[in-house]
Amino acid sequence: MNVVIVKNYQELSVRAAQLVADQITRKKNIVLGLATGQTPVGMYQGLIKKYKKGEIDFSQVVTFNLDEYYGLSPEHPQSYHYFMWDTFFQHININKEKIYLLNGITDNIDEECQRFEDLIKKRGGIDLQILGIGDNGHLGFNEPAIGLKSKTHLVNLSKATIHANVKYFNDIKEVPRQALTMGIGTIMKAEKIILLASGRKKSPVIVKTIKGPVSTEVPATVLQLHNEVTIILDQDVASKL
Ligand code: F6R
Repeated sequence: MNVVIVKNYQELSVRAAQLVADQITRKKNIVLGLATGQTPVGMYQGLIKKYKKGEIDFSQVVTFNLDEYYGLSPEHPQSYHYFMWDTFFQHININKEKIYLLNGITDNIDEECQRFEDLIKKRGGIDLQILGIGDNGHLGFNEPAIGLKSKTHLVNLSKATIHANVKYFNDIKEVPRQALTMGIGTIMKAEKIILLASGRKKSPVIVKTIKGPVSTEVPATVLQLHNEVTIILDQDVASKL
């Protein structure tokens, strides 16, 4: 694991945007795996800035998002569809035919998950996967468990995740209890992975991720088994390493 420690969130975002931009320059039709949540927002803003300066062309870039809440339509303001369009896609010249997100209101879960897996394969696999990490070590919505699923699947969100996400909803009752997520195997098949983490709250889980034993109870520890992982941390989150 290549661990990069930078001063603060702003530097983390600049560094991550530069790494992604370098990969797009290297391969114009790169397949990116994308994450939502607060952590990558600064990186998306950095990429938009680079696009506006004419430094990146997204026209051939393909994207797959990690996850989507089950039961939320693409138009729902808390859906990850909505987040991605609002935060990133609407600001760049990406071709909407090349954007893939899981359908949170599918009436056939197995078919939807298989469709996603098949599309990733058809597009040649993920070249670069961006990840955030949950306070409990989840990747995508692969929650701590006795066993982890390899492929895209429906998952019951943990109490910790439901509570962590309540800030985005009016009431805890509105927070979806389930989500569709890429599996750990799908994530681990990416050629390169960048994990971003910031803030003191996540420092215990970052210590476990980098130094702890590989355990399904901290899903992010599986990244220790991947050959090309870069972890970008700010000083706060790295303070206990
Ligand atoms: C989001 C995702 C999640 C988040 C994680 C951290 O697509 O897959 O695993 O990356 O919950 O979220 P933030 O960045 O909001 O702390």
